[in-house]
Amino acid sequence: MLRLQTLEALRQCVGGWKNDGLRVAFVPTMGNLHDGHFSLLRLARERADRVVASVFVNPTQFGPGEDFARYPRTPDADAGGLAAAGCDALWLPDVATMYPHGVDAAVRIRVPGVTEILEGAHRPGHFDGVATVVARLFNQVQPDVAVFGRKDYQQLAVIRHMAVDLAFPVEVLAAATRREADGLAMSSRNQYLDAGERRTAATIHAVLQQMRTRALAGQPSECIEADARQALVQAGFVPDYAVLRRPDLSEPAAGEGGARVALIAARLGRTRLIDNLEFDLDNG
Ligand code: PAF
Repeated sequence: MLRLQTLEALRQCVGGWKNDGLRVAFVPTMGNLHDGHFSLLRLARERADRVVASVFVNPTQFGPGEDFARYPRTPDADAGGLAAAGCDALWLPDVATMYPHGVDAAVRIRVPGVTEILEGAHRPGHFDGVATVVARLFNQVQPDVAVFGRKDYQQLAVIRHMAVDLAFPVEVLAAATRREADGLAMSSRNQYLDAGERRTAATIHAVLQQMRTRALAGQPSECIEADARQALVQAGFVPDYAVLRRPDLSEPAAGEGGARVALIAARLGRTRLIDNLEFDLDNG
């Protein structure tokens, strides 16, 4: 696996592959890789001839008081895991390469609408930072296809909106959420949890499943959402939201059928966890 630290080296590498007619997939990450990331790599491998992964802990997507400074950084383990997973090139930009005019003078991308609700309402500016860095990464790597996880459901919607709106010639693919044996969605932030919190954390997936069961049974959304919040509070969480939405994250009308996604964001101690569950009211 090549380790690339300059734009020149990256462009030479990917340009060479493209000149040879090879299809290039891209998996952007913030490092501290776990099996959830490696499943993105596997999907990328299936869909392309060469795979580039990036590791960049993006300062612009962390708000004041969030965990940018303590976000786990494990560069050697990440590189070893990526090489073992069949990654061809690891893109390791530094902050000056990503934001040549400095973070404060950086051109920002803002996707309206979908960034103003749910995660966007609770983490103002977060998705501007995500869209801003993903646009740069797309321009740097110039992949044919890029893979993102379904666990970050709203992030995926933001990136899809941006890619279409800015006409990036990149196919955006979504990979299924990987879960621990007790249902907890894999996340780098799980390691902030102490042993007791780790046991409690699986409640999020259980509550999502209850939300799905009750929605399929035709119960009203307001009751399901209120009970989900209460179940989270009883388990020791401070929920930010527990909602049922259409796939585009808009609010469904009462009695309306079709596809749904249940989404939860909740704090457990100092750790904020998110997860979601997709289902269809018409097909179970
Ligand atoms: O999902 C992530 O790890 C990050 O938000 C991403 C897409 C790599 C952008 O920094």
